[in-house]
Amino acid sequence: MRRIGVLTSGGDAPGMNAAIRAVVRKGIYEGCEVWGIKRGFAGLIEGDIVPLELGSVADTIHRGGTILLTARSQEFMTEEGRREAFASLHRAGIEGLIGIGGEGTFKGLLTFHRETGFPVIGVPATIDNDIGGTDYTIGFDTAVNNVVDAINKIRDTATSHERTFVVEVMGRNTGFIALTAGLAGGAESILIPEFPFDIETVCQRLMRGMRRGKRHSIIVVAEGVGSAPAIAQEIKQRTGLETKAIILGHIQRGGTPTVFDRVLASIMGARAVELLLAGERRAAVCLVGGEIKHCDLEEALRTTKKIDEAAYKLAEILAI
Ligand code: F6P
Repeated sequence: MRRIGVLTSGGDAPGMNAAIRAVVRKGIYEGCEVWGIKRGFAGLIEGDIVPLELGSVADTIHRGGTILLTARSQEFMTEEGRREAFASLHRAGIEGLIGIGGEGTFKGLLTFHRETGFPVIGVPATIDNDIGGTDYTIGFDTAVNNVVDAINKIRDTATSHERTFVVEVMGRNTGFIALTAGLAGGAESILIPEFPFDIETVCQRLMRGMRRGKRHSIIVVAEGVGSAPAIAQEIKQRTGLETKAIILGHIQRGGTPTVFDRVLASIMGARAVELLLAGERRAAVCLVGGEIKHCDLEEALRTTKKIDEAAYKLAEILAI
């Protein structure tokens, strides 16, 4: 294989740049050319493809976001769009494609491969950590650190004013960010879509804490459960406690990637190149029990990642 294409797609995740850098440098080291596709599948359809040199990825390992830009392409979801994407790759002389992104990216790659036979490799990068087959996705560690940093700050003001705060975090329809950040941030309650909760029980726990002298409370809620303002309002009505809501939003996705994300992205990016060169046609890179492996893209999409129930129960016990 002489020429490899690389793109980032879906929501940006800190560490994507480190992954692009690894693809470019490892690819060139192995004697290939690496071409960057702008704005994910949207840029692929438009043929917005540029050659990347060793220097193109200099000074990027510590930067959040993605230098290749990203998008969620509706057009790539159509057969016509995918036909145009195939034509772009053909015109550019690209023989294998590495897609860095989350579930939507993996689905796009798989459908594209099924229709065209084009070799594709997926590198899991999403702050949501919701890709099956891999213990961690690139960007998750940075995002949960961002959330914990915010919780620490909220705690200062919450204690000073003796308030309750409901903190809404991202994660689409999963609670991986909420659970990890809630456990690390010492939250009184963590509300996630994977486990049903009763608002009255949440309120009773809050009141129990107040009776034993707690002066503030932090409740972390995953966006897939409901909105923080509505939950805060309900808690206020039921308990009479001054309750504020905060939606952390996109600050969770920004900032310099953590060491963990940079290392994971570097190893995964390089492995994606190795897989293409070894003749893999539709694989996903994954981290399993501390080891970098790969599986079929279809398997990665089929596997539903389980939330850590023991961690959820532990968070409850520790907030007693
Ligand atoms: O998938 C990453 C993610 O940040 C989700 O957690 C969130 O629901 C979504 O993307 C937000 O998307 P957008 O950036 O398009 O608002």
